[in-house]
Amino acid sequence: MIPSEMEPLQVYNILSAAVQPRPIAFVSTVGSDGIANLAPFSFFMLGGSNPPSLMISPTLNRNLSEKDTLANIRETGEFVVNTVHREMVDGMNRTSAALPRNEDEWEVSGFNRLPSSIVSPSRVAESLVSLECKLFQVVDHGQFAGSARYIIGEIVAIHIQSQAFANGAIISENLRLVSRMGGPDYLDTATLDYFQLPRP
Ligand SMILES: Cc1cc2nc3c(=O)[nH]c(=O)nc-3n(C[C@H](O)[C@H](O)[C@H](O)COP(=O)(O)O)c2cc1C
Repeated sequence: MIPSEMEPLQVYNILSAAVQPRPIAFVSTVGSDGIANLAPFSFFMLGGSNPPSLMISPTLNRNLSEKDTLANIRETGEFVVNTVHREMVDGMNRTSAALPRNEDEWEVSGFNRLPSSIVSPSRVAESLVSLECKLFQVVDHGQFAGSARYIIGEIVAIHIQSQAFANGAIISENLRLVSRMGGPDYLDTATLDYFQLPRP
């Protein structure tokens, strides 16, 4: 199959089902107007550890506008990546709706805020791990709906809740992270249960 000869939606469906399971970055940002935003991204990966860095890609919207998360990060240069476990999926999913930029998505999510130590956006109190990030670079690739906007962030602070941390290390099974599979499918890495979450 040659992607350039296919319908963009089919390319998305095939690639997002082929590259799985994908971790979920639940990203907290604030705009220069002070309005806070939360949104999940599974085009997400760790990039390095010295200096520690990661990548998320909010793709261009159908009307070619940039997602609020990206707009906020361009404005302020800061964001927090929070992890998602099974009990958090409904609140996380609600924030993936296309909401107006001036709507505070914390209210929609039902999650609680904790202050970050270095960056301005709050971290999610329910998440077992939160990574405070400062923008290193945005790489624009393409000018179409679905084109990548690679946000590379340097991780400047790490928060781990005590139930997931012992003797200087993370207890992986206690994180109970949820992964994104193809379409509406998710995997609970604690139980290896598949479940579905229709988009709002
Ligand atoms: C689990 C999950 C993963 C998602 N991953 C991505 C992604 O990697 N890139 C993307 O552009 N949108 C992704 N979305 C959709 C965004 O969350 C959605 O477009 C959201 O409205 C963006 O919010 P914002 O405009 O407030 O930044 C995902 C949605 C869900 C539920």
